[in-house]
Amino acid sequence: MNPPDDTPRSLAVEAVLPRPPAQAASRAPSRREAEELDAADPLGSLRALFRISDPDTIYLDGNSLGRLPAATPGFLADLVDDGWGKGLVRSWGHWIDWAGRIGDRLAAQVLGARPGEVALSDSTSVNLYKLAAAALDARPGRGAVVFDAQDFPTDRYILQGLAEQRGLTARQVSSPMDTALGLDQLGAALDDDVALVVLSLVHYRSGALLDMASVNELARAHGALVLWDLSHAVGSVPIDLSGTGSDLAVGCTYKYLNGGPGAPAFLYVRRELRSTLRQPVWGWYGQRDQFHFGDTYEPVDGVERFLAGTPPVLSMAAVEPALDVIEQAGVRRVRAKALALGDFAVRLADAWLTEHGVRLASPRGPEQRGSHLSLTHPEAWRVCRALAAEAAVVCDYRVPDRLRIGMPPLYTRFTEVWDAMDRLRDVLADRRYERYSRTPARVT
Ligand SMILES: Cc1ncc(COP(=O)(O)O)c(C=O)c1O
Repeated sequence: MNPPDDTPRSLAVEAVLPRPPAQAASRAPSRREAEELDAADPLGSLRALFRISDPDTIYLDGNSLGRLPAATPGFLADLVDDGWGKGLVRSWGHWIDWAGRIGDRLAAQVLGARPGEVALSDSTSVNLYKLAAAALDARPGRGAVVFDAQDFPTDRYILQGLAEQRGLTARQVSSPMDTALGLDQLGAALDDDVALVVLSLVHYRSGALLDMASVNELARAHGALVLWDLSHAVGSVPIDLSGTGSDLAVGCTYKYLNGGPGAPAFLYVRRELRSTLRQPVWGWYGQRDQFHFGDTYEPVDGVERFLAGTPPVLSMAAVEPALDVIEQAGVRRVRAKALALGDFAVRLADAWLTEHGVRLASPRGPEQRGSHLSLTHPEAWRVCRALAAEAAVVCDYRVPDRLRIGMPPLYTRFTEVWDAMDRLRDVLADRRYERYSRTPARVT
């Protein structure tokens, strides 16, 4: 166990972000500045805790799939050999509690929740379905669910499906493409017919960060529950589910938490709500006295009532070594570095890329974003391809014309951001993207 991060936020920000002199604001920072920022970075040494198999590749897509922590392969190999190979079915004696135990770690380290409020389970999509259905059941007589028409597709589809199945109105607000959903816009969509509001804390495309407490307050004033999708926020921005009075949340562990491809998601249910919510998948993992194999479903009192079936133990286990790294960093220091990296990237984009038709497609203030930002260019897909194929820069493309730049603070260097922007400038200036097909690949 490492001591909790008690670095005051302002100090941590100052440690990594020397403010440029006012007159230099519009010029591009030099590579020397990037090197100095790396040298002063209090999280710089944590990069060694990840497996960087190709140091020449600049990886700016950790907001999609986080890097592999160096400790994970050994941890999993031991689990396979000892837990599975030697322990066999007897290992279930301790595996059985992991969903809640690792959930408690997430609660304490990155979610600001209380013990017994978080469990690892299923995927974000499935958890969203389970909690949204439970929430709608808990608000009988109300006819609408509110969500963002620009939110990540799985959220929209699941809510559209639930609304159709139940004869509810899917009341969609549409956030601006490049900035956050306005509170006044949300407020205008709320009334006492709304059962549930579902929003992403950090927007998957623009990176826009919402004000959790204010959204909760608005919804509460109308008696609606709020379900947060924390996928692009968890492990990257400080989250205080308890302090903001949040009701429900879900999120994934394979982005900023570095749990690995397909790592199980988490769900959070405010303790006071738990007994009033019943999820739609009545599986034996949510059952009281699971191994009594009772005749009828009777859910346990704890957050495990939102589990359904046997968890993927190996994937679940991989979240642990990843959390060890975050524990060393502390989320507040992660956030401080994210602000600095974001500011640095925007200064470079402003100075170098504007003349090549690139525009920032994210909120301008670093504190209004998570740890990624979007740039827009009419040929964004081809630019993304050219960057990967010719410039060893991995980022991603999102429709219609966005290049997403992810900068997970645990392992991203300022020099990488500088080099990536420099290479992007070259790809644009030489129009090297023109060699690539306009048709996006299956995975973008
Ligand atoms: C905001 C958001 N929500 C939900 C999901 C989907 O999660 P899953 O495919 O693990 O269910 C993603 C995936 O990237 C996402 O970005």
